[in-house]
Amino acid sequence: MTHRLSRGKQTDTQGYGIAQSELPPFEEGRIDPRVWFERPQLPLQLEIGSGKGTFLVQQAPRYPDVNFLGIERSPEFYRYAADRVRRHALPNVRMLHGDAVEFIRFWCADEIVEVLHLYFSDPWPKTRHHKRRVVQDATLKDFHRIMTAGGELHLVTDHEVLWAWCEEHATRAEHLFERRPFDGVESAGEGEIVGSNFERKYQQEGRVFRAMTLVKRG
Ligand SMILES: C[S@@+](CC[C@H](N)C(=O)[O-])C[C@H]1O[C@@H](n2cnc3c(N)ncnc32)[C@H](O)[C@@H]1O
Repeated sequence: MTHRLSRGKQTDTQGYGIAQSELPPFEEGRIDPRVWFERPQLPLQLEIGSGKGTFLVQQAPRYPDVNFLGIERSPEFYRYAADRVRRHALPNVRMLHGDAVEFIRFWCADEIVEVLHLYFSDPWPKTRHHKRRVVQDATLKDFHRIMTAGGELHLVTDHEVLWAWCEEHATRAEHLFERRPFDGVESAGEGEIVGSNFERKYQQEGRVFRAMTLVKRG
């Protein structure tokens, strides 16, 4: 399907985009998103909040034997990212339009994700909006369920208050995950951690970045 964005740019998500609204009702059972890829037998990595898809288009060509699923809630960013993946003709990337927390909780099958990427997640600074943050006690439990043995969550943020929140949650989830340093992403540029759009924007503002890896126990 083609769409016209407000800036007048035509986008085409055909073959690379999936809409959560078109999934079967979750009451019918869990879904294995690996079937959306040309080679479903490959290991799966998942990115929550892909934005314009920069991490995916930089990282996926380096790892042709890994499938990457990006999940993006904003319709405009979803279409932009899926169209970009299509223009790069990346057979190992798919974009899901929807809420990653909901998809993971209600649809996603158990023990299928090797790495979960969460980069520059929205901080939701107002107290009444904290429940909208991706990292919650319940989502960490869901992440643990969908990860393979030894699976990893990679988390990077520029936001000090969100960082403190993530640290508190990681401490409470010590029985589920072992915390380790984050080594950075191979496709990132010189002096970058991930090389995503928000990292580049915030780097120009001189912000400090915080990062952690949580490794699944058990
Ligand atoms: C601050 S942007 C960061 C984008 C990208 N990761 C980067 O580093 O450039 C956060 C993105 O996450 C998306 N997002 C936030 N919560 C989400 C959720 N629950 N499911 C899917 N996408 C989400 C937002 O729409 C937004 O595009």
